[in-house]
Amino acid sequence: MTYEHHGDLIGNGSEMTRLRDEIDHLAQSDAKILITGESGVGKELVARRVYRSSRRSHGPFVAVNCAGIPETLLESELFGHVKGSFTGAYRDRPGQFEVADQGTVFLDEVGEMTPRMQGLLLRFLETGELQKVGMHQATRPVDVRVVSATNRSLSDMVTQGTFREDLFYRLNVIRIDVPPLRQRTEDLPQLIDYFFRRFTENSNARARAMDPEVTRILVKYPWPGNVRELENAIEHLVATARNDVIQVDDVPLSIRTSRSVSIRPKRERRRTVADDLYEQVVEKQECFWTSVYPMYMQRDITRSNVRDLVRRVLKEARGNYKIVTRLFNLQPDEYKKLLNFLRTHDCLVPFKEYR
Ligand SMILES: Nc1ncnc2c1ncn2[C@@H]1O[C@H](COP(=O)(O)OP(=O)(O)O)[C@@H](O)[C@H]1O
Ligand SMILES: [Mg+2]
Repeated sequence: MTYEHHGDLIGNGSEMTRLRDEIDHLAQSDAKILITGESGVGKELVARRVYRSSRRSHGPFVAVNCAGIPETLLESELFGHVKGSFTGAYRDRPGQFEVADQGTVFLDEVGEMTPRMQGLLLRFLETGELQKVGMHQATRPVDVRVVSATNRSLSDMVTQGTFREDLFYRLNVIRIDVPPLRQRTEDLPQLIDYFFRRFTENSNARARAMDPEVTRILVKYPWPGNVRELENAIEHLVATARNDVIQVDDVPLSIRTSRSVSIRPKRERRRTVADDLYEQVVEKQECFWTSVYPMYMQRDITRSNVRDLVRRVLKEARGNYKIVTRLFNLQPDEYKKLLNFLRTHDCLVPFKEYR
C-alpha cells in the first residue's frame, strides 16, 4: 500500500470514505464551511482537502490559529498593520486575509476569539474590506473563502452569550462534522499501518514490524485524543522499541489496560430539571401553560431550565416550532402566543442549528 498524498485524510472505513466524498462535493461551492469535531480528529486535514478540491486550489491556503494568541496580535495577524501602529511595528505588514487573496483562509479554534475580534471578523465577512491596525479607513477588498474549525459547540456558546449569533450564522453556512476515532474503528488498521511506516521509513529506528497482538490492542483502545493521540503513541512505540518487532510489553500500560469502549460502562448523567419538565410535558402530555408556565412565573424553575427544555424539544422537532407547539400540547393557533412568550423571556432558541 502506498500513500500518495502525505497530509491527506487516511482511513478506508465507510465513514471516512463518505466524509472524503462529502468534502469533495461541498468544496465545489464557494460557501463558508465550519468544521466541527473533537480535538485531534483531523479538522485541519479536512480544511486542506476542501482547499485542494476547490476551484481555489491554485490560490494560497493560509491557516491561522485563533487560540492562545493575544487579541491585538491576532488582529494584526489577520488584518495586517501599518508601520508605527504599535511598539515593534517597524514596517507595514499585510494580514493573512490579504496574503490569502484569491485563496482560502483556515481559521482554526475560531471559538476562542474574544468578543471584539468576533466583531472585527464579522465586519470583514460582511464587507470583504480589510481594516489594518493603525489605519483609519478600510483598504481594498479581498476575495477569500473562509473555512473555520472548532472543537467547542458554537451553538451552545451562542446560547451562553459567549459567541455572537450573527457571526455563528455567517461561518456556519455549511457544516462538516468529523466523528471521533472511536466511532470509526474501521480506519484504525490503515491508520496504524500508515503511521508505523511514516515513523520507520528513513529513520534509524530499529522497529521493522509490529506483533499482531500489538495491533489488536491498538485497535481496541478508544483513543480519546483521536488521531493525534494515535500518531503520538506510534511515534513513541517506534522510538522506544528494543527489538525489530514491537512487542506487547512495549505498549504503555495506559493503553494496554484501558478497556475497549464497548465494555466501558456508560457514565450516568445526572437527571436535570429539564429532564423532569420534558417528562411532564412531552411524555405525560400536560399543557405547557398549566405545567411549565406557572412554575416559571412563580420562580420554581429558572429561565435557563425553560431554555434547556425548549432546546431539547426543538431538537426533537428538528427545528420546527410548529411541532414544538404540538409537543407542548398546545393548539396550532397558540403557536404565535408561544413564540411571543419565549421571545419575551429570552427563551427562544434559534431553530437553524437543529434543521
Ligand atoms: N485521517 C487522518 N489521516 C492521517 N492523519 C491524520 C488524520 N486525522 C488526523 N491526522 C493527523 O492527526 C494530527 C491531528 O490532526 P488535526 O487536523 O490537527 O486535528 P484537529 O485540528 O481536529 O485537532 C495531525 O498530525 C494530522 O496530520
Ligand atoms: Mg487543530
